[in-house]
Amino acid sequence: MIVVANYKMNLNLKNYKIILKKLNNIQVKDTKLVLCPPFVYLPFFEKNKSWYEIGGQDVSANIVGKCTGQVSANMLKDFNVTHCIVGHSDRREFETNEKIANKVEQLVNNGIIPIICVGEKEKNGEDNLIIEQVRTALSKIKKDAKFYIAYEPVWAIGSGDIATNSYINKKVAIIKKEMKKLGFNQPILYGGSVDEENCQHLKKCNIAGFLVGGLSLNTDKFIDLLRGV
Ligand code: PGA
Repeated sequence: MIVVANYKMNLNLKNYKIILKKLNNIQVKDTKLVLCPPFVYLPFFEKNKSWYEIGGQDVSANIVGKCTGQVSANMLKDFNVTHCIVGHSDRREFETNEKIANKVEQLVNNGIIPIICVGEKEKNGEDNLIIEQVRTALSKIKKDAKFYIAYEPVWAIGSGDIATNSYINKKVAIIKKEMKKLGFNQPILYGGSVDEENCQHLKKCNIAGFLVGGLSLNTDKFIDLLRGV
């Protein structure tokens, strides 16, 4: 299983010291873990990391220049960032599908694996929106590029309103069908209120792993999840 922790804009250096100390003391076989802290903590994570990998929470769509406040894929690479979330629903209000496609392209060009978030806003919402998100995000990369799609129904993020397995499998099938049409076959993750208990049944979905937000802030419960998947 693949588990990605998205810390979002939470915690501080003191908290991250404790988190990494705890995570460095465990070893979870057969799980690939990627930790995505806020940009400013990436150097600390790089220096202290052990068995897991580190990821960004976003990246600039541009290569260099007049982009005050942004961080390029090339800069992320300097800190051994191997993965990067793009198109998270927290950010989609500032972005178009085209801009997300440019970010995906930047990451792939720099050897960083994009974790591309897609998902409908409302429960039983439009599949066309997801299809368009997938199609545009993949429009600038080669068929053999490394990436993950993270299917995250927006209504399930941080809400505790967890999608059922059959609901998730239906949406995953739609995403897979669109990817196949375009010549892609990369892994799909699920995100949205995943915790150390519901991961037990969610892992039976047609997915390769989880994108975890809230639960990653509680390291003991997060370790339970890592041990349980
Ligand atoms: P959640 O967040 O696990 O708190 O629902 C998931 C995400 O935003 O990626």
